[in-house]
Amino acid sequence: MKKLVDQISEKVSEAFEIAGYDPSLGRCAPSNRPDLCQYQCNGAMAGAKTYHMAPFLIAQKVADVLAGDPMFSKVEMVRPGFINIDVAPAFLAGLMEQLEQDHRRGAEPDAEAKTIIIDYGGPNVAKPLHVGHLRSAIIGESIKRIARFKGHKVIGDVHLGDWGLQIGQIITELKLRQPELPYFDDSKTGGFPEEPPFTISDLEEIYPCASKKSKADEAYKAAAQEATAKLQEGHPGYRALWRHIINVSVSDLKQNYKKLNVEFDLWKGESDCQPYIPAMVEQMKADGYAYLSDGALVVDVQKDSDTREVPPCLILKSDGAAQYETTDLATIIQRQQDFQPDRIIYVVDKRQELHFVRVFRCAYKTGLVDEQKCTLEFVGFGTMNGKDGKPFKTRDGGVLRLEYLLRDVSDAVYEKSRGNGELSDEELHQVAEKVGLAAIKYGDLSNQPSKDYIFDLNRFIAFEGNTGPYIMYTMVRIKSILKKFRESCPDAVLGHILPPDGQKETNLYLTLARFSDAVDDAYEQNAPNRLCRYIYDLSNCLNQFYADRNIMKEPDPEKQASYVSVIQLVLKVLELAVDLLGFDAPERM
Ligand code: ARG
Repeated sequence: MKKLVDQISEKVSEAFEIAGYDPSLGRCAPSNRPDLCQYQCNGAMAGAKTYHMAPFLIAQKVADVLAGDPMFSKVEMVRPGFINIDVAPAFLAGLMEQLEQDHRRGAEPDAEAKTIIIDYGGPNVAKPLHVGHLRSAIIGESIKRIARFKGHKVIGDVHLGDWGLQIGQIITELKLRQPELPYFDDSKTGGFPEEPPFTISDLEEIYPCASKKSKADEAYKAAAQEATAKLQEGHPGYRALWRHIINVSVSDLKQNYKKLNVEFDLWKGESDCQPYIPAMVEQMKADGYAYLSDGALVVDVQKDSDTREVPPCLILKSDGAAQYETTDLATIIQRQQDFQPDRIIYVVDKRQELHFVRVFRCAYKTGLVDEQKCTLEFVGFGTMNGKDGKPFKTRDGGVLRLEYLLRDVSDAVYEKSRGNGELSDEELHQVAEKVGLAAIKYGDLSNQPSKDYIFDLNRFIAFEGNTGPYIMYTMVRIKSILKKFRESCPDAVLGHILPPDGQKETNLYLTLARFSDAVDDAYEQNAPNRLCRYIYDLSNCLNQFYADRNIMKEPDPEKQASYVSVIQLVLKVLELAVDLLGFDAPERM
């Protein structure tokens, strides 16, 4: 289906051509003065120079051509040379009927399907998930779903931090506590137990303990570093332990992400790119990009146009150890070999921006990535702060544990909704979980990703205002009217939609027609907040429309069926949209 704005532009462009002007001047846009008109064309202003003519004369000639066109109810020249346009109610009604038939609600897939890898989540095995990981998961998941809906082949990769010092620390601690375990027998090369020697709760206690000791005690730190190096060189016992750490962590992470409605296609990690590092380093040296600086191997990435210092990209430390940059570069090689992506999008804390600037520049400069074929994109997100303006902490001041956050929010929703009648306690708990997730995700996604925001529980769970629960409430309200209508008129035929009558109805129709624009916007800008804005507008339009009429008591059956068809369409659009954001509505609340 063609977008409404494109259909209008096409008509107006034809009119420009008929009037003797360049058709490209006929591009229209939603009006920035909705009180005056719905759409506007400013092409006559731009054409004035070319045609040495007052813009209003051009605009008037074009408006004359369009006079009487059934698509419009108003085409008006306004000095100094604007064309103000309103779409005819009957045309809008026809458009609504088309949207009702189209399961994509007017949002076309892109003509060319691209392969896109989204690197998000980024948890570190054995370390607790923190707020940054929460934001990455929520935003990345939505970007993934939107791109997929646009028809692209999208691969979500969790990119585990599974290769760093934290593993050496755990090994060191475990060796102190249980030196008799077979993993520490240097002469043993295989036949290690299948069962892990710890549970996730053990790991959750072991890691912070080891990390603390490693900070306080030099000898302990050296031991942890040595264990890390041995692991990376292939020590069989350490490798076996490392596998256990990953398996135990990953199954816990999967459960956590499932609760968030977040799903990854790939569970690769930093360790997976290790085999690609040696050849990459050799190539960078051979091509003359990498050179030794104070013993470390680096590639310069500073540009003349930079206004800030961009330090060289560190490829190998002086002791020969691979760095965070190294793994990200080698991972690019691996991804190109496996998937030949057109785009790789990294959804990571914006405080890591400089890291990615250096990695991207280095990848392009050294020819790892051909900029014409594949773009590397950084979607940096801001911090989720508490009401005190500092990074969000749990009540006891610890780092966020995702389960606790989810539980706190759904408990708060539960408390708030209790006593509202109808629902059994069990159903209420399930509803509170759904609404709680919507509150968290919408509260996050409704902000531009790069902005910091304040996690304010009471505001996030409010049923009024720009919140997830408000959207849920709007959807549930429609569901309940549909149900009542179905009960009272089981044979009514839906789908015939009447022209809008009055401003509120017209606004609702026009907003429904803009779903596709909102999806495109969100896709092109990697900005799910555009879609949030849209569903908030749509929900407001729906609630205003609804407040104006009593649908269930409408005496004219044709009108009633039309109203019901329209609100059903609103529900379908909202369902599609919230699914792209990564949550869904309960049946009742
Ligand atoms: N594990 C990292 C962290 O916790 C995030 C990984 C982001 N992705 C990447 N390709 N570097 O900070």
